[in-house]
Amino acid sequence: MIESNTITKGLDVQAIRQQFPALNRQVKGQPLVYFDNAATTQKPQVVIDALVDYYTNYNANVHRGIHTLAEEATALFEASRNAARQFINASSREEIIFTRGTTEGINLVAYTWGRKNIKAGDEIIITEMEHHSNIVPWQILCEEKGAVLKMIPQRDGVLLLDEYKKLLSSKTKLVSVVHVSNALGTVNPVEDIITLAHQAGALVLVDGAQSTVHLDIDVQALDCDFFAFSSHKVYGPTGIGVLYGKKHLLEAMPPFQGGGEMIKEVTLEKTTYADLPYKFEAGTPNIGDAAVLKTALEFVTKIGKEKVRHHENELLAYATGLLKQIPGVTIIGNAPNKVSVVSFVIDKVHPQDIGILLDNRGIAVRTGHHCAQPLMVCYGIPGTIRASFAMYNTKEEVDKLIVGLEKALKMLL
Ligand code: ALA
Repeated sequence: MIESNTITKGLDVQAIRQQFPALNRQVKGQPLVYFDNAATTQKPQVVIDALVDYYTNYNANVHRGIHTLAEEATALFEASRNAARQFINASSREEIIFTRGTTEGINLVAYTWGRKNIKAGDEIIITEMEHHSNIVPWQILCEEKGAVLKMIPQRDGVLLLDEYKKLLSSKTKLVSVVHVSNALGTVNPVEDIITLAHQAGALVLVDGAQSTVHLDIDVQALDCDFFAFSSHKVYGPTGIGVLYGKKHLLEAMPPFQGGGEMIKEVTLEKTTYADLPYKFEAGTPNIGDAAVLKTALEFVTKIGKEKVRHHENELLAYATGLLKQIPGVTIIGNAPNKVSVVSFVIDKVHPQDIGILLDNRGIAVRTGHHCAQPLMVCYGIPGTIRASFAMYNTKEEVDKLIVGLEKALKMLL
């Protein structure tokens, strides 16, 4: 008989698990329980096969050669750009810039749009729950330009929008906000944040590193000005990501890096730049991983984000309920609207000790500050234990986490 938690709302979790070879491995003599999906997702066999197929049959440089392999590699690379365009509903392929990942996407905007447009006294707004990748580039820019970086505060994982309204003014030039907190799982109300920013005359960058795998992304409906995400958190390869920008903004921005591919013509006196998106893609890109991104996005679309969301939310509710019953556990971040991330601390116990003891039972969680140190300061903690669930996780695995925690606590306390 099929257990109720292996098929939820049409999602056949056991069939999905069979598509992820890494889930078959053992860690410390135990079957792997992989709950570090917010750090990176495991890869389905179709993605692994597509990467092998690319290097076996198509490897060539793109946009340069007229030979067959170069044309085929270019076609795969550009097909993936189209798949990414469709996945986030951008209006044109020129708006899809391949990057190394979300971090590079945000840095690209800071280094190009930021250097051109930010002046002394201007203000940039971020939030208290940003990942370091959406803090440090703006600190560097503000320091260089004499601009001011402001933060929207949060309480128990919820941004205080009334405080945000008070921060907005004609000095605000950019609001750069995380869509889903990697440390808390909060889904931020980016629609409202964008509307308010635009009313104040500011642009908005959305850090979609954690949201793109869980939520339906429509950059046109959101009306965000920039949106960045990473392939490896959407079941695709590492080292490739996408920066979306509105075409008129990207056209007005200076290039990011100089080199081959991003030029129209170079003389010793002057260079003219290539059209979008190539103006921002200097050098030989990460062709293989870019080409395979399409396979990953199609895999997610075929399974269906809504079905996956339902399953992941059930796991989140189940895990949260059980964790709350363990004496000494405090859940960090209790926003009503969350994706499948549960962060917690336990009285008198260091998160890292728990992480090590869980690993001894084959259970992978992330412990520490999650690259969100200012957020940890808000809570007065050095870090948390974070379990983040994906389409292939099960309630039985959550049960193993709970047993693992109880055994760890017996040992430590
Ligand atoms: N940003 C990734 C995480 O949250 C690495 O773990």
